[in-house]
Amino acid sequence: MDIFIDSADVRDLRAAAASGLVDGVTTNPSLIARSGRDMKEAIAEICSIVSGPVSAEAVASDVDGMLAEGRYLASIAENVVVKLPLTPAGLTACKLLVQDGIRVNVTLCFSSVQALLAAKAGATFISPFIGRLDDAGLDGMELIREIRTIYDNYGYTTRILAASIRTINHVRDAALLGADCATIPPKIFNALYSHILTDTGLQAFLEDWRSTGQSILK
Ligand code: G3P
Repeated sequence: MDIFIDSADVRDLRAAAASGLVDGVTTNPSLIARSGRDMKEAIAEICSIVSGPVSAEAVASDVDGMLAEGRYLASIAENVVVKLPLTPAGLTACKLLVQDGIRVNVTLCFSSVQALLAAKAGATFISPFIGRLDDAGLDGMELIREIRTIYDNYGYTTRILAASIRTINHVRDAALLGADCATIPPKIFNALYSHILTDTGLQAFLEDWRSTGQSILK
């Protein structure tokens, strides 16, 4: 499963990318606002930090506006993926941008029939929002399961990008269900490394090693 970081904070992104485990980045207008950055500068900088796909979201609501913004965003760097909302205009613009060779991430997906339409529009990625469904008392993981089944039934190559991840269990469950990618907030990404038995096990190994008085390098 590809790991994307869901953030527009370049300090967090540099730290995560240094792990060598990060395959891409997703941003949205809220994350850009939180970063306090000029969007175009932030996207250009993020694209220099990671070589994989970097999602940058258009904010127009009509097809022409989405096409203009999408083409502009795609011109910032070759790894930009244009993010468009799952609306009739968003899917029309998706189809046209894809015909121009621009990759599109269709966002704000909350149902499997929406995901079916995005695949038919040629989306490169579909972003089902797991956490927001769970927040609303629904089952975000069930949506991942349904989309996986529908895409596999028909051989759609649109990649399932599990989004709105809130917990490490969301990452585990998305992987178990066959999501192609998960976009993960920096705090959850860092938490993926942790297990209490790793910490206590390592401490015991190092204490025992010290008691031997040995050194590996001399
Ligand atoms: O980038 C989209 C997404 O992951 C949103 O997450 O936490 O705002 O629901 P959240």
